[in-house]
Amino acid sequence: MANFMKHIPGSNPIETPTRHAASKGVGVLGLHEGRTLLLALQTRCSKAHAVAGCDLSAEKIGAARGEYPELFYTSDYAALLARDDVEIVAIYTPDALHGEHIVQAFEAGKDVICTKPMVNSLADARLVWETGLRTGRRLLVGQSTRFFEPFRRQRRAFEAGEVGAVEMVDAHYVHRMDWYYEKSAWAARETDWIFLGLSHPLDLLRWYLGPIAEVSAFGQTSALGRKYELAHPDIYVVNVVAADGRVGRAFGHYGAHELPRARNCIELMLYGDQGTSQAQYHDMRYVHTTADGTEVVEDHLYAGRHYYFNSEVHGMHYGEFANYAEYFAGVLIAGDDDAEYSPNLREGIETFCLMEAARLSVAEKRMVAVGELMSVVGLEV
Ligand SMILES: NC(=O)c1ccc[n+]([C@@H]2O[C@H](COP(=O)([O-])OP(=O)(O)OC[C@H]3O[C@@H](n4cnc5c(N)ncnc54)[C@H](O)[C@@H]3O)[C@@H](O)[C@H]2O)c1
Repeated sequence: MANFMKHIPGSNPIETPTRHAASKGVGVLGLHEGRTLLLALQTRCSKAHAVAGCDLSAEKIGAARGEYPELFYTSDYAALLARDDVEIVAIYTPDALHGEHIVQAFEAGKDVICTKPMVNSLADARLVWETGLRTGRRLLVGQSTRFFEPFRRQRRAFEAGEVGAVEMVDAHYVHRMDWYYEKSAWAARETDWIFLGLSHPLDLLRWYLGPIAEVSAFGQTSALGRKYELAHPDIYVVNVVAADGRVGRAFGHYGAHELPRARNCIELMLYGDQGTSQAQYHDMRYVHTTADGTEVVEDHLYAGRHYYFNSEVHGMHYGEFANYAEYFAGVLIAGDDDAEYSPNLREGIETFCLMEAARLSVAEKRMVAVGELMSVVGLEV
């Protein structure tokens, strides 16, 4: 093997942990973003490990097999589901297919990690919810942003009371997406940026504000969006009111020219009664006030770039995917069926209702109550 660098000086080294005795076998469906999870599992996790991969594309299978030849590969999802060593199915297929793939996994007796957005239609939300209740299987929504270093630090500080009571939340995800339409044509026509992109900031709003009662949103299509003939807007502004009256805002723009020095593509601002904090992606800064008003910048980029980005130029999500897989496998191994974890199936369905409420608000030019949609899906409000 060629002698490529295995470790980037200055960053924390990746040490593959010893496998936990009860480590969960994971079958990965969809081997583009799913390949990232495969690698993350094999290099960064102890409580979960990859056993199988599935994709319709021989090229994607070939690439994964090149790195991990010992795993089982197939283009037939049913063959992956039939394996006893697959305990968790991790789903990374196009958005519109998540619903049917989750249902098939639940019916086969598997627990599920599903990337964001968990589903992108009311019909799928209803079916997934019903099947989840009937089969009792567990699901974690792979909301990667929550598991990225600055957002973890921000959460820990929030839980330690450092910003006090959060009074307002402001989150965005802005990213120019021509490369994505070229790579994944389905993104232009078979989903909506409300689900594909806004799933990140809307989940963050829900995480800090709790259940959302009402949504008022506006959307339009950018020049880039018109060029790729998007079926839906790619610029969105979403205002929300939480059930307890607190307010928040999310926005997204997927045709913008990025200006990361001014604004990172994902940012989360928490305004609390004791302080303010901000977490950023793709830079790894966590910025916050201290009790006497001093501004502190915690910059984890050089320490964490190998773990999170796999030292690729703009490599993505290795660390976040490892963090959530390890977290979910830990919950399953602990074996307490009543244990709380987040975002679970119910929260994922509720966040879907929030996204769908925003989509409807734009389409119907009205404020939408999230409860309207939760009733349709079968969730008590
Ligand atoms: N931050 C994140 O967590 C993050 C980042 C990027 C993408 N995603 C999500 O991951 C999902 C996949 O995105 P992507 O960029 O990898 O898309 P992609 O188009 O590059 O890859 C999807 C893969 O699924 C395979 N596939 C489709 N149908 C299949 C089937 N029935 N059986 C087996 N394989 C099948 C395709 O061949 C393809 O390789 C999307 O839902 C996207 O929203 C999440």
